[in-house]
Formats: sequence, structure tokens, C-alpha cells
Amino acid sequence: MLPITLTAGPIARARNGVIGKDGGLPWRLKTDLANFRAVTMGKPVIMGRKTWESLPKKPLVGRTNIVLSRDGSFEPKGALVCEDFTEAVAIAREQAEEDGAREVCVIGGASLFELALAKAGRIYLTDVDADIEGDTHLSPIDETRWTEVSAKAYPAGEGDDYPFTIRVLERR
Ligand SMILES: NC(=O)c1ccc[n+]([C@@H]2O[C@H](COP(=O)([O-])OP(=O)(O)OC[C@H]3O[C@@H](n4cnc5c(N)ncnc54)[C@H](OP(=O)(O)O)[C@@H]3O)[C@@H](O)[C@H]2O)c1
Repeated sequence: MLPITLTAGPIARARNGVIGKDGGLPWRLKTDLANFRAVTMGKPVIMGRKTWESLPKKPLVGRTNIVLSRDGSFEPKGALVCEDFTEAVAIAREQAEEDGAREVCVIGGASLFELALAKAGRIYLTDVDADIEGDTHLSPIDETRWTEVSAKAYPAGEGDDYPFTIRVLERR
């Protein structure tokens, strides 16, 4: 049986580490959202409660949505809820196996990315080419521990506020 890889991301991160502002994304990057959809489609996705709340359309269709919350009364419609990250990953792996998916994607926010980065085999990372004001940050990734396997630079196209680079990193 092929292994199922845990991925951190897709993560979109500004040069200064910002990933969020006021409960949402601090930019409009239509091309990157299309990449997010393509990368995650058909795969279980794990997210924090605030990221779930930030989604304009819930759940993310075509994907098992797993939401982490410590609030026992929280009942997200169309998603599974979990109180523990390790348990969420175990449930997601079982679901991936059932669906024939090869990856489980942790899609944020900040604390979930940190938990995922400690265990993930792959990072889907979009480096946004700007310093952005925001209130949610990702700590720097130690890239000596990762090998870049692809990188594609995009100019700011229609619907994109900034240029950006979509990268894939694999654990060394
Ligand atoms: N740029 C990107 O790639 C990206 C991706 C995702 C999100 N974002 C942005 O990031 C912001 C939201 O992220 P955030 O970091 O503030 O919040 P978040 O991680 O989405 O959600 C935090 C909540 O998740 C639950 N949680 C977190 N860790 C947990 C754990 N180990 N066990 C159980 N529950 C846990 C808690 O929910 P309870 O309070 O219910 O207990 C916590 O308050 C928004 O601005 C969003 O737009 C950006």
C-alpha cells in the first residue's frame, strides 16, 4: 500500500510571516486559491475552528473537513470535529485510505501549521512577494531541513494583489 503523506498547507505566507488578518486572508490571490483547491481536492483537510469560520463557503466541497476545537458544544455543519490534533490526523488518514487519497492536508491556522510542520513530509508553500500587515503569523521555516522539489513564480495576474511563488518542499 502506498503511504499517505501528511502535508503542511497549502500555506500562503507573506515575506514577514503574516498569514492572516481580522479573521481572514490579508490579500486577494485568485490564482493561489485555485492552486489551493487543486492541491486539496479529494483529500481530507484539517483546520482550526477560526479557519473554519473564515471560510466563505463551508464545508470545502469534495474534501472531508475536520475542524479542531476544544469547545465540546461546537458542531460545525458538514464537518467532523476533533479536540486533539493527533486524533484528527488519525481520523484523516483512515478517511484518506478509504477515499484512495495519498495526502492529508493541514490547512491552518498558525498553531495547526506549527503542529503539522513538526510531523509533515511535505509543505505546500506560497510565498507572497510583499510585507503585509496582519495579526496571524507563521514562525520561520527552517529550510535546511527541507528540499525544494518545485517552485513556480507567478506575476500578479487578474484577481491577484501581489506576485507570488508556489513551492513544494519535502522533508530531507
Ligand atoms: N494564509 C494562509 O495560508 C492561511 C491558512 C489558514 C488560515 N489563515 C488565516 O489565519 C487566521 C486563523 O488562524 P488562527 O491561527 O487564528 O486560528 P485557527 O488555528 O484556525 O483556529 C484556532 C482554534 O482552533 C482550535 N485549536 C487550535 N489548536 C488546537 C488543538 N491543538 N487542539 C484542539 N483545538 C485546537 C481552537 O478552537 P476553540 O477556540 O474552538 O477551542 C483555537 O481557538 C485567519 O485570519 C485565517 O484567514 C491563513
